[in-house]
Amino acid sequence: MARMDPIIAWHTEHEYFHQLLALLQREVDVFHEGGQPNYELVLDIVSYLHEYADRFHHPREDVAFARLAQRCPDLRQPLARLVQEHRIIAQSGEKLRKLIQSVINGAIIPRVEVEVAAATYLVYYGNHIAKEEEDVLTRAAMTLTAEDWEAVRNAVQPGPDPLFGGGSGDRYRALRRQIAQEARVV
Ligand SMILES: [Fe+2]
Ligand SMILES: [Fe+2]
Repeated sequence: MARMDPIIAWHTEHEYFHQLLALLQREVDVFHEGGQPNYELVLDIVSYLHEYADRFHHPREDVAFARLAQRCPDLRQPLARLVQEHRIIAQSGEKLRKLIQSVINGAIIPRVEVEVAAATYLVYYGNHIAKEEEDVLTRAAMTLTAEDWEAVRNAVQPGPDPLFGGGSGDRYRALRRQIAQEARVV
């Protein structure tokens, strides 16, 4: 979350993640229909979500949730669940990333294993973001103070967003191109 309105920045990152999950969903659909998914693309999506969401987005949310839970006792339980889900998302993402990397490296892995791991990750992640959007963002906007947002910003050292940050590094070039192509089609 950058130094723009923190709620807008928060929501914008969710929109970015939604775009990636939609791309991932399409590859899972191809897989489900017996086709050959773009494994490199899937690997890039899951890697980016690890590199950016797990390391920056989620730690900032953890601080925002802790502050919000102090001020809104009725939200304590759902917020605790969301924090727990960050760990589950990180673990299931890592499991999926390793699985896809193995497939790319030529390992023979049952299709169903890859499909289930990807579909589970998708459903879990999609529901997680939906809950944050529905239950948390508005309450956070109404409740958190400037000092809270400062703490949220300082939760982690700011790092560049290698995909949506406006840079042109090589690592996510193909995924960046794919996202731009989707935007032209819509
Ligand atoms: Fe989250
Ligand atoms: Fe989030």
